[in-house]
Amino acid sequence: MRILTWIKPTWDIHIWNYFWALEPLVRLSHTYPKADIFSFVPNMHALTSFHDPIGIKKNTINWVKIALACGVDPERYFIYSQSDIAAHAQLTRVLSCLTHMWFMERMHVYKDAIAKGTQHDISVGTFTYPILMAVDILLYDTTHVPVGQDQKQHIEYARDIAQKFNNMYGETFVLPEAIVQEDVAVVPWIDGRKMSKSYNNVLSFVDTEKTILKKIKQIPTETKTVEEPKDPDVCNVYNITKLFLTPTEDEALRRKYQAWWLSYKVAKEYLFEKIIDFMKPIQAKFETISDEYVIELLKKNAPRAWAIAEQKVQDVYKKIWFTL
Ligand code: ADP
Ligand code: TRP
Repeated sequence: MRILTWIKPTWDIHIWNYFWALEPLVRLSHTYPKADIFSFVPNMHALTSFHDPIGIKKNTINWVKIALACGVDPERYFIYSQSDIAAHAQLTRVLSCLTHMWFMERMHVYKDAIAKGTQHDISVGTFTYPILMAVDILLYDTTHVPVGQDQKQHIEYARDIAQKFNNMYGETFVLPEAIVQEDVAVVPWIDGRKMSKSYNNVLSFVDTEKTILKKIKQIPTETKTVEEPKDPDVCNVYNITKLFLTPTEDEALRRKYQAWWLSYKVAKEYLFEKIIDFMKPIQAKFETISDEYVIELLKKNAPRAWAIAEQKVQDVYKKIWFTL
C-alpha cells in the first residue's frame, strides 16, 4: 500500500489546511502503520496561479516547516519536491497526448470558469492540471490518495487516464483509490464562505495575535441578545471553535449556548484564546526549523523519488517506442 499526500505551496498555510490535511496526515500514519506514505510539494501546480518566484520558494519551505511543526515525521513520511523530478513533466507530455478535450472540459474547475465567463482567463496549465495531478499519482504506483470531496473527480480522472494507457500499451499503471475525508466539513469563515486561499479569507499560521483578533471580530453572527438561548450549530463562531475543543469542552460550550447569557463577544474571546493556545506551540516549533534543514531534506530525498519516477517513465518510453 502506498499513500500519496501533498502540501500545495500557493500561499501561507492556513488553519483549515491543518484540519483537512496535516492532522489527517498524522492520523494516517497510525491507521496504516505499514503503508509507504509519500508527501510531496506540488510546486508545479502552484505555478497555475502563483508567479512570484521568491514566494514559491518561501512557501515551499514554510509548508514543509509547518508540516514538521505539526508532527509530520520526516522519517515516516517521504517528503520531496515535485519540480526536482523531471519525470513529472515527461509523463505529463505523454498522457496529455492521449487525453481529449471533451474529457478535460468535464472538469468542474473548468465548468465553474465557464459559468463565470472566465474560461479564457485561466491558463492552459490550469485547464490541464488534472493530467499533471494524475501523473503525480501514477508515477509512484500510488494505491491510495486522501482527498477532500471536491478533489474526488481528479482521482477518477487519474484512474481513467491510467486505464486508457494500460488498455493501449499493456499493464503499466496502478489504478489509485481515493480516501475521501468524510469528516472534513466545509467550515465557514468570516464572510460565511469556506476558509480558502482562493477567497482570501484565511487565518494563517503566520498571522499575528492582533490580526487574528481582528479577523475573529469580523465573523458574522445572528442578531440575538445576550439573554436569548442560541443554537450552536448555526453559529460560525461555534463551528470554528469546536475544532479546537475536547469532547468535554465542547459539551460545556454547547450548554452555554443553549442556556442564557452567552454573548457573541465572550464566544469570540473564547475562540481567540483557543486559537492562540493551539497555534503557539506550532509556531514555536516552526521557529526552530531552519530553511537550510528543509532544503537539505528535499535535496536528500530527491534522488529516491527521481529513481522511482524515472523507472516508470522508462517503462512508458519503451512501450511507446521512445527508447530505441
Ligand atoms: P483553496 O484554499 O484554494 O481551496 P487549498 O490548497 O486550501 O486551496 O485546498 C485544497 C483542497 O483542500 C480543497 O480542494 C479541499 O479538498 C480541501 N479544503 C481546503 N479548504 C477547505 C475547507 N475550508 N473546507 C473543506 N475542504 C477544504
Ligand atoms: N490538486 C491538489 C490541490 O489542489 C494538489 C495535488 C497535486 C494533489 N497533485 C496531487 C493531490 C496528487 C493529491 C494527489 O491541493
